[in-house]
Amino acid sequence: MSLKDKIIKAADYISKTSSASPEIGVILGTGLGSLGESVRDAVVIPYSDIPNFPDSTVKFHAGRLIIGTLKQKKVMVMQGRFHYYEGYPMRDITLPVRVMHRLGVHTLIVSNAAGGIREHLAAGTLALINDHINLMGTNPLIGPYEEFFGERFPDMSEPYSKELRELAHQAAKKLDISLVDTVYAAVTGPSFETPAEIRMLQTLGADSVGMSVVPEALTARQLGMKLLGLTAITDQALPDSMGQISHEEVSRVAKEITPRFNALVQEIIERI
Ligand code: HPA
Repeated sequence: MSLKDKIIKAADYISKTSSASPEIGVILGTGLGSLGESVRDAVVIPYSDIPNFPDSTVKFHAGRLIIGTLKQKKVMVMQGRFHYYEGYPMRDITLPVRVMHRLGVHTLIVSNAAGGIREHLAAGTLALINDHINLMGTNPLIGPYEEFFGERFPDMSEPYSKELRELAHQAAKKLDISLVDTVYAAVTGPSFETPAEIRMLQTLGADSVGMSVVPEALTARQLGMKLLGLTAITDQALPDSMGQISHEEVSRVAKEITPRFNALVQEIIERI
């Protein structure tokens, strides 16, 4: 089936199941899924019910779509995402973003857990993604092109909306939550980085490193969606003092950040 048909079929199924017309999309990363519980009048659809959606295979990712309202705004929340390291093609990982866009979503908030690779980015920090570096070795926009997919050569001079970043800082200030600006580097994983790789990432200008976000971000920009990225720094990886990291630890720290993250996302959504 063509990508276009996949998008249309998945979107048709969702709009048949829920009559809502969502405007804001939220993708919840590792350990950050609990925001989904705050959605009112929620229609919950497991990914496995949606035609052409891959299945979330990662522990601590719920794998369901929640459609409803949050702070009086119509939202579509993905509890769990798809990763390149799971073996799915880039076009499948990013299918949900295209489906959201087809359903009317114009603003996308992406979130993830990532490692902090600067002294000031300790585990437990909540960060804003100002910009990114794509080190995944591929691009989700590669492939046959149709106008339906958005721009062939999307501009990336402002991948994460300046307006939304300012709004996020205002929201954080009001809630007295510290929110640190970062440049985020995306790698494929699933192995974590070696000390030499962290040193390389620092040299390249990255502040944090993770295994997601960028495919969805590029797709959202191709479609002209407004984009905001939030990161839970779940571990600090400094080349000369690296401790061991595990997926369990990443999830545990993300859960610790969750109350701040949930409050901030709701405050942001209220202001959009
Ligand atoms: N590296 C890559 N991905 C991650 C990390 C990390 O240190 N922490 C959470 N996701």
